[in-house]
Amino acid sequence: MERLQKVIANLGYCSRRKAEELIKLGKVSVNGIVVTELGTKVKKGDSILVEGNILDNNKNYEYYILNKPRGVVTTTNDEHGRKTVIDLIDTSTRIYPVGRLDYDTTGLLLLTNDGILANKLMHPSTNIEKTYIAKIEGLISPLSIKKLKTGVIIDGYKTKPAKVKLRSINKKTNKSIVEITISEGKNHQVKKMFEAVGHHVEKLKREKYAIFDIKGLNVGEYRKLTFKEVSTLYSLFK
Ligand code: URA
Repeated sequence: MERLQKVIANLGYCSRRKAEELIKLGKVSVNGIVVTELGTKVKKGDSILVEGNILDNNKNYEYYILNKPRGVVTTTNDEHGRKTVIDLIDTSTRIYPVGRLDYDTTGLLLLTNDGILANKLMHPSTNIEKTYIAKIEGLISPLSIKKLKTGVIIDGYKTKPAKVKLRSINKKTNKSIVEITISEGKNHQVKKMFEAVGHHVEKLKREKYAIFDIKGLNVGEYRKLTFKEVSTLYSLFK
């Protein structure tokens, strides 16, 4: 355990005196909590942000956003030997996925070894928005869209209000494409919501997750988050 201002200075961010000033000004957070006490001690691996910048002390921390392909499991290892999302990322750090996407779902998935951020993002009280594009069987009616918006019963539970937009309908193939934004994350939630209004989901893709958009990231591609993105994620919980 070392004093926070010393750690900040030792990591080369600024002088110890400047670090003390920044702490007093409320510009420093440890594990997502703003610290203004000069005597605060931190340990290796604590997540330290100074003026929104993650310090190198967090070189233990890695953050990735992946466009998950189909046919990959969202676990750290699979008992049936199937490919996991971890296999797709070139790192020797033990990262893990934040939440889940089904085996056949594609799209945005965050991976990290920052348990504090992961827990905050996954906590049921955090209303992180996730936008999915669902290709469904059948031609969805305005009434079903309204039901999805206000809430449907899945597993004896009423889903929270969702944003739902019809993207297209194909009478020839008898399919619809629907965009749905939910702020919950129950197991197979989107598929179950569509089943509740009589439509089977054929394909599901997550296009948005919190502050991230899938644009620029092809299926199977991933990238590291920037300092700014990580601090923006932390700022969602202030
Ligand atoms: N809802 C689902 O049904 N599946 C997913 O993979 C994600 C959300």
